[in-house]
Amino acid sequence: MKKIILDCDPGHDDAMAILLAHGNPEIELVAITTVAGNQTLDKTSLNARRVATVAGIQDVPVAAGCDRPLTRELKTAGYIHGESGLDGPAFGEPTVPLDSRHAVDLIIELLMHSNGDITLVPTGPLTNIAMAVRKEPRIVAKVKEIILMGGAYTRGNTTPAAEFNIYVDPEAAEIVFRAGWPLTMVGLDLTHQALATPAVLERIAALGTPVARIAVQLMEFFRQTYRRNAGFDSPPVHDPCAVARVIDPNVMQCVNAFVAIETRGEYSSGMTVTDFSSRLGPTNAQVATKLDVDLFWDLMVDAIRRIGAPGVRAS
Ligand code: BDR
Ligand code: CA
Repeated sequence: MKKIILDCDPGHDDAMAILLAHGNPEIELVAITTVAGNQTLDKTSLNARRVATVAGIQDVPVAAGCDRPLTRELKTAGYIHGESGLDGPAFGEPTVPLDSRHAVDLIIELLMHSNGDITLVPTGPLTNIAMAVRKEPRIVAKVKEIILMGGAYTRGNTTPAAEFNIYVDPEAAEIVFRAGWPLTMVGLDLTHQALATPAVLERIAALGTPVARIAVQLMEFFRQTYRRNAGFDSPPVHDPCAVARVIDPNVMQCVNAFVAIETRGEYSSGMTVTDFSSRLGPTNAQVATKLDVDLFWDLMVDAIRRIGAPGVRAS
């Protein structure tokens, strides 16, 4: 089993990442930790508990972390994810509780007690991960690898230069990219290939389960906001791409690069400056370039199918 800690800010695509991590039989989800990003921390934490409840995730701690970036004011993305951060479906009261530990402490605890077999999968701003490595630098040697959704080498989505997760907390991203652990950047260049097309949504809807219905409703809402705000016909489902890389590295091609985080630029703050020719420094990241689109959606649909009706995991 491949153990992961999913550090997220649900978020429609974070919700899909939770479903993929839970439903895939090769992944052991050891914790879901939350951070402020797409919405405020109270909302992203509630949303993580909502998704965990509908997916029947039990005995996996859901812990809340940092409620704002390291040094900056929080900027949220209600224009994409709605007022709740997970607009679209009607969720009941979640039954999955919030763990009493701070996410940063839980991340440190799990990594320090591990055999070096846990992969960190951040799909939100990198505040919790940066705080954890500052508080306990020995986690760098303990982590198996870090596979994050964030950044890009050809574009931004929040500014012309910056992707949202890095834009929100560039100082945290700089700490994470400099930490010296094996790191994969699954950025927009890759995730814009993971489009929830009508054909994909038909496949998910055909599963006919409550979880499948919620996934489709989430993606329908996401389609509307992406169409309105970014001119996409079908929305890019960013965050589960990072989970898919853990499940099967063949799902994407990666190229080694040195990635620097721009923290000071007037127009470029939050940019992941990606140097494929080692002019600025030695390789510190594998950078995702090309997605096996069919394999990715097969993994996603299969995970939702296996979740089935919560409590009744299909084989
Ligand atoms: C990232 O920003 C968030 O809105 C999404 O959840 C994803 O993690 C894409 O830029
Ligand atoms: Ca996210």
